[in-house]
Amino acid sequence: MKEKMQHIKRLIDDEIDKRLQNDNPLIEALYKSAAYSAAGGKRIRAIFVFFTGELFDVPEERLIQPACAIELIHAASLIMDDLPYMDDSQLRRGKPANHVVFGQDVALLASIGLISEGMQLVLSDENLTPEERLKVGQVLSASFGFNGLAAGQFVDLKIKDKHVNFEIIEFINQKKTAALFSAAGKIAAIIGHADEKQTKAIQDFSDDIGFAFQIVDDMLDMIGEEKVVGKNLEHDRMNFVKLVGMEEAKKYLQEYHQKAEKALNIFGERAAGLRELSEYLIQRVR
Ligand code: IPE
Ligand code: IPE
Ligand code: MG
Ligand code: MG
Ligand code: MG
Repeated sequence: MKEKMQHIKRLIDDEIDKRLQNDNPLIEALYKSAAYSAAGGKRIRAIFVFFTGELFDVPEERLIQPACAIELIHAASLIMDDLPYMDDSQLRRGKPANHVVFGQDVALLASIGLISEGMQLVLSDENLTPEERLKVGQVLSASFGFNGLAAGQFVDLKIKDKHVNFEIIEFINQKKTAALFSAAGKIAAIIGHADEKQTKAIQDFSDDIGFAFQIVDDMLDMIGEEKVVGKNLEHDRMNFVKLVGMEEAKKYLQEYHQKAEKALNIFGERAAGLRELSEYLIQRVR
């Protein structure tokens, strides 16, 4: 599986490199800032698209641009997440955060540019039919808006510790993180022409894995090592693990993982890759 993941990561890195070329000296720093934050990362969401696409025998070239698009939007969300008036983090992917290098003004504009580039990638993808482009574009744009990332980030930032409860933290993790995973799964299902039952299974699986992914991220805030994780950790901040406690969080993690795997049952052996990926994701240390 490691090799397959490396292969996908290379495809994505190359495509992103290609997309962020610029020959206008006037906006050189804007592109540099965007490319700086689009580089690196585990590319988990792209890998998720490819592993799901595999279930439906989708050829690679029909997955590259949508997978890149998700990674660009994800990268944009990380730039914003680190800003001083958001999480105020200085370290991202083992390097200084975007705003530390390029300034807050440039960071914000680069983030907008990355989201725009991501949407353009799918809406002008020649490997998809016009109908597929529209459906993928709808799913992708919904994933970072008022019913997705922006909503989750908003509640995460604005909720005061003493008012927090399980439902609120659940909402935060679902929207700020699971929504993008869910979009990754749905997009692969659209491109793979999955039927209704298959689409529902993929959606359940990606929702639960996305949620589990954020539980692990929250665990890393408490027990991770900054040098390994490559970003500033927030020991004291309210999150899922802090709310329910580490032992309870481990139980939830197992529960979400099991629920996710169960959703894959209808695919039988064909889902071996996705099962292995979800195993890997809940055991990660960075
Ligand atoms: C970090 O995501 C933000 C979360 C939603 C937890 P990743 O852990 O996938 O970050 P990169 O892309 O590998 O840097
Ligand atoms: C994850 O929020 C959701 C994001 C969009 C960016 P976090 O604030 O937990 O992400 P990290 O831990 O900084 O990567
Ligand atoms: Mg945050
Ligand atoms: Mg953060
Ligand atoms: Mg975090």
